[in-house]
Amino acid sequence: MFPAKHYRSWSFTRDPNGIGIKSGHRDSVKSGPFDAVRFWYVRQARRIVAFNFRPRQTIPLASRKTLRYDTAMAQIESLFVTRLYRAALSELGKPVDAAELETSCLTIADDDEAGQDWSEANGYPGYTSYASLADLPWRFPIFADLVKVLDLHVAAFVEDLEFDLDGKVLKLEDIWINILPQGGTHASHIHPHSVISGTTYVAMPDGASALKLEDPRSARMMASPARKSDARKEMRQFIYVAPKVGDVLLWESWLRHEVPLNMSDDERISVSFNYRWD
Ligand SMILES: [Fe+2]
Repeated sequence: MFPAKHYRSWSFTRDPNGIGIKSGHRDSVKSGPFDAVRFWYVRQARRIVAFNFRPRQTIPLASRKTLRYDTAMAQIESLFVTRLYRAALSELGKPVDAAELETSCLTIADDDEAGQDWSEANGYPGYTSYASLADLPWRFPIFADLVKVLDLHVAAFVEDLEFDLDGKVLKLEDIWINILPQGGTHASHIHPHSVISGTTYVAMPDGASALKLEDPRSARMMASPARKSDARKEMRQFIYVAPKVGDVLLWESWLRHEVPLNMSDDERISVSFNYRWD
């Protein structure tokens, strides 16, 4: 072991420069393992200081294995957003009698033989008045009431979309009934020649299909990877919306959408509509 006198002769004081230590009796311990240990610590302290104050390296994003938002420090924005409007009809205007609306839809479907024939001839699995009755609000007061309320919701959506209508307004172009029985679907489609389209929901029994919306950029995604199953809602390529009776959904007419298989034993009843820029 080392001589005890060497150990006892050390008296350490702080280095006036702030880093390291020095002995008050350096001459008495010029050499030996204690010196080596002491200066090893000093060197380590200097290394630590040097490491922590070194210039930061720039690592290219592509070479990073993982990139966390709390470390990236980048600004990432959403551009060219797709808006979807959802509200209860009752939030604006005079309340529409839901029971009367449902009864009217069923009565009209029973009486509208032209609509039944068109649905059958065109493979529509159920009933739609789309091609047979172009004047529901004129024929049935409940539809006139409904349109007054829809006008208010569309106006609210136009406000959100920040449309410059150049002194014109959006006007109802078409409104029609859809009745989908069990197993009924409505294939993916858009609503050409319109600005705003939407649907209000009259009967949505348990198991009734949601509305499926598709990312409008799908046709441009030539080599784009699929999105993670738990991706954020705004990052997904398909969105399913399950509205309740009395809800109204609005979207821009170019947005592709479909009604998947109705799994309910009962009929799914909705009223859809288009608004044009006039
Ligand atoms: Fe549609």
